[in-house]
Amino acid sequence: MKKSLAIVLTLALGALALAAEGEKVYQTYCMSCHQANGKGIPGAFPPLTEVVPEILGKGAEGRQLLIHVVLFGLQGQINVAGATYNSMMPPFGNQLSDEQVAAVLDYIAKAWGNDKLLPKEYKPFTPDEVKVERGKKLSPMQVYEEWKKIVE
Ligand code: HEC
Repeated sequence: MKKSLAIVLTLALGALALAAEGEKVYQTYCMSCHQANGKGIPGAFPPLTEVVPEILGKGAEGRQLLIHVVLFGLQGQINVAGATYNSMMPPFGNQLSDEQVAAVLDYIAKAWGNDKLLPKEYKPFTPDEVKVERGKKLSPMQVYEEWKKIVE
């Protein structure tokens, strides 16, 4: 009985720590462009509100695309929420660990009311799946080719 309580507590604290880590990573590495409210700056930096759950709704490919954008960057013209962006998001693979990438992706999946739009089967990103994607070593333009296939 005591042992199972300890396990439940450890898991709950682990989830809390991951959520705190995700917010910290967002504030340090993402907020300057995508803004504290996740709405970006129309025409310059695209929003993450509504967009992230929508991409997660595309299934496993959408999930991988989000990992790729953070690890490898994104360069090319995209249309998001009625505005056009033709700019470059820098890659963060060299600065962020697998744990940090998983944490920040879970954060942007749930922040700003995105949690209410998530597909039912959504599960938090794991460091292991980030590690697998890291091995693919894509360029920002290759990520853009994926973007066109999956999102547009
Ligand atoms: C220097 C500015 C900048 C920073 C910092 C930045 N991004 Fe971006 N991000 C962009 C731009 C610009 C695009 C669109 C690129 C294009 O036009 O092809 C983008 C696109 C995205 C997308 C694609 C979905 C969409 O339409 O918004 C996601 C997801 C994303 N960024 C997440 C993040 C996360 C998570 C971080 C922090 C780890 C981050 N970004 C940091 C500029 C930035």
